[in-house]
Amino acid sequence: MSKAEERSSLLSNCIYKNPNETIESRVKDLLSRMTLKEKLGQMTQIERTVASPFVLENLSIGSILNGGGSVPMEQASPSDWADMIDSFQTCALKSRLQIPIVYGTDAVHGHNNVYGATIFPHNVGLGATRDADLVQRIGAATALEIRATGVHYTFAPCVAVCRDPRWGRCYESFSEDTEIVRKMTSIVSGLQGVPPEGHPRGYPFVAGRKNVIACAKHFVGDGGTDRGINEGNAILPFNELENIHIAPYLDCLSQGVSTVMVSYSSWNGSKLHSDKFLLTDILKDKLGFKGFVISDWEGIDRLSQPHGSDFRYCISSSIKAGMDMVMVPYRYDQFLDDFIYLVESGDIPMTRIDDAVERILRVKFVAGLFEHPFADRSLLDMVGCERHRELAREAVRKSLVLLKNGTDPKKPFLPLDKNARKILVAGRHADDLGYQCGGWTITWHGGGGKVTIGIFKDGVCWHYLSTTILDAIKATVGDKTDVIYEQYPSATTLADRDISFAIVVVGEDAYAEYLGDNSELKIPFNGTELIEFVAEQVPTLAILISGRPLVLEPALLEKIDAFVAAWLPGSEGEGIADVLFGDYDFEGLLPVTWFKIVNQLPMNAGGPSYDPLFPLGFGLRCNMDSEPTN
Ligand code: GLC
Repeated sequence: MSKAEERSSLLSNCIYKNPNETIESRVKDLLSRMTLKEKLGQMTQIERTVASPFVLENLSIGSILNGGGSVPMEQASPSDWADMIDSFQTCALKSRLQIPIVYGTDAVHGHNNVYGATIFPHNVGLGATRDADLVQRIGAATALEIRATGVHYTFAPCVAVCRDPRWGRCYESFSEDTEIVRKMTSIVSGLQGVPPEGHPRGYPFVAGRKNVIACAKHFVGDGGTDRGINEGNAILPFNELENIHIAPYLDCLSQGVSTVMVSYSSWNGSKLHSDKFLLTDILKDKLGFKGFVISDWEGIDRLSQPHGSDFRYCISSSIKAGMDMVMVPYRYDQFLDDFIYLVESGDIPMTRIDDAVERILRVKFVAGLFEHPFADRSLLDMVGCERHRELAREAVRKSLVLLKNGTDPKKPFLPLDKNARKILVAGRHADDLGYQCGGWTITWHGGGGKVTIGIFKDGVCWHYLSTTILDAIKATVGDKTDVIYEQYPSATTLADRDISFAIVVVGEDAYAEYLGDNSELKIPFNGTELIEFVAEQVPTLAILISGRPLVLEPALLEKIDAFVAAWLPGSEGEGIADVLFGDYDFEGLLPVTWFKIVNQLPMNAGGPSYDPLFPLGFGLRCNMDSEPTN
C-alpha cells in the first residue's frame, strides 16, 4: 500500500470524515488533528493566480478566489471554470488532512465573471421591484450557474443601505431604506437554500449541491459613509448604525448566511477591519453569528499606512478583532510567516485561532465540501439557460420605474404603439450590452460594448441572442414598423415627419467601487443635451441606464413626453421592450430618493428638509385607473 493509500485508509476511519457524525463533532475532531500551520493556512484566502500545486498541497490553504475579471482564459466556458477549480481541489485533497478548499467569486448579479452567464439587474433595480420572491428565485438561479462552474461560494449579497448616491457602490445596494433592504435579503435563502423551521439564527446553512455559500457584505455601515466616499467614515451614533445598517444582517443570520465580509470603511473613525466591538461583541456574541467573518480584498493592509507597511500590526489587530479568514490575496507567504510569529509569541491567543478555524470548518462541513468537493458536471447547461434568461427578463420588467408619462393623464404617452410608422432610437446606451450590465460584469469595473452574449440552448442547439434595448425594440414592433437607430441623430433625420416618436437611451459608463464615486451626478456623454435636442423636434421617451438617480434638469423634464429609470438591467434587454410597448405594465417603485440638486445630499425619506424631485416609492403605471404611487 502506498503512503497516500495508507494515509487515506487511516483517515477514512476518522470522525471528521464520517458524514453521519454531527457537524460539531466533525469540527472538533478535525480541529484536534490540525497543526498550528494547518490552522493558519485555513484562515488564508489567496487569488487563483498564485494558487500553485505546491502551495495547495503543503500550506493547507483554506480558500481561493478570483478577483473581478480574473478568469481561466478569455471567454472561458463553464467547463473551463470547472476544470480549473477541480484541479485546485485535487491538489488541496493531497494535503495531509485532505481538507477541501472553498472557491469564492463575486457573483453579485448573476455569475457575472462568466462569459455567457445570465446577467440579472443590479441590486438597485431589484430593490425597485420590492419582490422578495423574485429575488429569492434569482438567488436560486444564480446558485445553479455558480455551482455549474465548480464554484462553491459567492461574495453576495451586498446588504449595504446606501444613504448617499454619490457613493460609487450605490447600485450594489437594494435601497436607501432599511426595510426594503431587509426584504431583499431573501436572496440569501435563494443562494443557500431555505433552512428548515427552527434553524438556529446565526448558524450557517447550505441546502445541497445546487446551492452555494453566501456572504452578507460589507459589515457594517459601508453605505452610510460621509458624503458617500467609498471606504470612508460613517459618522453616526450606535443606535442609528444598528437601526439603519445592522438590521439587514439580522435577516441574513435568520436565513443562515454562512459568511460575513467586513467593510473597508470606518465607523466614527474606527476601521471595521479592526473593530472588535462590532465584529466580535456585536456580530458574534450579541447576534450569535456562527459562520466565518472574512476580510475584504487586502482589507487588513489598509489598517496601516502606507498601505500594509506594518503587516504584523495589520494581522494582529484584525485577527484579535474577530477576523476569521483573510482575503490576502497575493502575499500569503509573508502573511503566514508574520501570522505564525504573532501566535507563537503569544500576541494572538490560540483560543482566537481555534475559534476562527472552527467557524471555517463548520461552513465547509455544512456546505458538504468534504463529501462533494468537485464540480457537478450535470449542471453545466444551467449557465445562461433560457429559464434563467426568462427570470432575468421578468426582473427587468419589474425593475423599471416610470417617472413621467405625458402631461395629460387622459393622453398617456406610454405604452408605445408597436405598429407605429417609424421609430427613432438614439443614444449610445440603446445598443450597448456592457453599459446595460454595468460594473462587475466580465471584468471588475465592466465596460461598454459587447462584453458578453445572450445565449440559450433549446434542445440541441444554442441560440446566441444579443439583447440590447435596440434589439429588443426591433424584436417587439410590427413588421411594418421602421426602426432607425442613430446614436446622435442629425437634424435631417429629426426633420423626417414620418417619425412617430423617439426613444433616447442615455446613462452612465460602467464603474465599480471608488471609480464610481461622483459628487456631480450629471448624465454623462452629453446625455441631457442629446435628449433636449431630440425632444425639441420629436415626441420623446427618455430612458436612463444608471446605477443611481442623476440630475434631471427641469427644462429636460419639461421637454420630454415620458421618462423611465431602467437602472442597470443586465443582459435581458427584452424586459424593457415588454413594458414600453404594453405587454406588461410598469410595477417599479423608486428604491432611492430622486434629488433635485446634489447640494441637497444626503437626503433620505423620513429625514430633515425632504424636498425630492421624486420621493422614495414613487412610480407611475400605464394603466389609466391606477394612481401614481408614493
Ligand atoms: C472588492 C470588494 C468586495 C469584493 C472583494 C473580492 O474590493 O470590496 O465587495 O467581494 O473585493 O472581489
